[in-house]
Amino acid sequence: MSHNTISLNKQRQPLAHLESVWLFGYGSLIYKTDFAYLDTKPACIYGWQRRFWQGSHDHRGTPQAPGRVLTLIEAPGARCAGMAYQVTPDTFEHLDHREKNGYLRVFTPLHWLHEAGEAEGIVYLATPDNAAYLGPASDSEIAAHIASSAGPSGPNSEYVLKLAQALRAMNEHDEHVFAIERELLKLL
Ligand code: BEZ
Repeated sequence: MSHNTISLNKQRQPLAHLESVWLFGYGSLIYKTDFAYLDTKPACIYGWQRRFWQGSHDHRGTPQAPGRVLTLIEAPGARCAGMAYQVTPDTFEHLDHREKNGYLRVFTPLHWLHEAGEAEGIVYLATPDNAAYLGPASDSEIAAHIASSAGPSGPNSEYVLKLAQALRAMNEHDEHVFAIERELLKLL
C-alpha cells in the first residue's frame, strides 16, 4: 500500500451521511487538537497497544530520513487509553491530510474512562503493509532514531515527550511510551 492514504480513506469509509462521528486519539491527537470538536472525553480501546513502529516522512522526519511515530498493534487483552473527540464528518478532510502517511481509518468500540457507556469511534491505524511501516526495534534503537530525527512539525523527541506528559496528566501509564521516553532522556 502506498504511504499516502488520503484517497483510500475517502473511498473505503465515506462519512458524509453521518451527523457526527467519534474519533479516538492515542498519539499526537491527545495533545494537538488543531480541529473543532463538539465534545471530548477520555476513553480507551481494548485489544490494541501503542508502538513507535511507523515511519514519519511528513511531520517528525523527511522522505530522506523518516522519523518514528506511533501506530497501534493488535494485542489480545491490551488496553490503550487516549482522548475521544466528537466531530462533524467534514473534519476528516483535515485529519486525513494530517494523518496521510500510511494511516487507514477503522471503526472500533470506545469505552469512556470516567463514566459508563461506550460508542463506536474512528481510529487511525498504520498496518505493516504500508510503505512507511518500520516495525519493531529495541527501546534504545527506537530512542536513538527518534533523538536524531526532525521534520516540518518539529523534533521527533517532542512527539514522545509531549505524549508522555499528556498521559501522565491523565494518570495513564503506558510502559512502551515511558520506556522510550526514559531512553530518549539519556540521549538529549
Ligand atoms: C492519534 O493520535 O490517534 C494518531 C496517531 C497516529 C496517526 C493518526 C492519529
